[in-house]
Amino acid sequence: MRDLIDIMELSAEEIDGLIKTALDIIANPGKYAESCKRKKLATLFFEPSTRTRLSFEAAMLELGGSVIGFSDAACSSASKGESVADTARVIECYADIIAMRHPKEGAPLVAARNVDIPVINAGDGGHNHPTQTLADLLTIYREKGRVDNLTIGLCGDLKFGRTVHSLISAMSRYTGVKFVLISPEELRVPRYIVTDVLEARGIEYEETSDLDAALPKLDVLYMTRVQKERFFNEQDYLRLKDSYILTAEKMKTAPEKMIVMHPLPRVNEISVAVDEDPRACYFKQVRNGKYMRMALILKLLEVKI
Ligand code: NCD
Repeated sequence: MRDLIDIMELSAEEIDGLIKTALDIIANPGKYAESCKRKKLATLFFEPSTRTRLSFEAAMLELGGSVIGFSDAACSSASKGESVADTARVIECYADIIAMRHPKEGAPLVAARNVDIPVINAGDGGHNHPTQTLADLLTIYREKGRVDNLTIGLCGDLKFGRTVHSLISAMSRYTGVKFVLISPEELRVPRYIVTDVLEARGIEYEETSDLDAALPKLDVLYMTRVQKERFFNEQDYLRLKDSYILTAEKMKTAPEKMIVMHPLPRVNEISVAVDEDPRACYFKQVRNGKYMRMALILKLLEVKI
């Protein structure tokens, strides 16, 4: 049985396969309505979530399966001091597949090493978020018609934003992709991503703090929230939280075909007036996330349609 802890565990061909399955689910939902009958997904969420947990749950329900789990570490035996490994071993007795979110980097990997059922990383600390990347890739594919030959601007908290880390890794495998990394100095992308991913693969990238200057050259603008919960002190958060605010006014200087993405939740970084702009794709991204999670569950459970 396979897990999905890091997006790079899926080859580019496998990601193409997941996109194909997701497109088929969108076109023929009835065909999949019973494909996970009698299968159970456990959602173990040790950290707050709206979209990711409900998206996994909706995905499993739409496949005809059922769902168990918890949405708060305080409601689990972790509050009594149980280890992640033990919790995972217990859940394995009840469920066929696990989706786990945890504030500690590496916790889903620990779970995966201790059970025989597939474990999906639904976000581990400031590290990775592979299923958000699947949602992002389907969105880019559906909106731009391709995932290669694109200039992508990632803007905001590139240091703690786990969705950014997984997306850069995944996109860096496609030809002709360029990154514009837009952030305050303190929130730049971790150096290991620059050295091990961007430089190791000879990818064209630029680091800047100037969103206005970057906007006109982008095909995709990926905005992110400043990750309050990962800051060590509140003053730093308060100083940096409104570093970038995408407004309708700024959108006038962006290319006509540029799309705006955001993994959500949004705080202040995109003003609500931008929602009316046809280039705003963040709610479509939510929908796409469910289809890609359906495709992923089918793949990991090795369900044949
Ligand atoms: C993201 C996350 O949890 O990392 N949210 C999500 O899953 N869609 C982004 C964020 O919390 O800012």
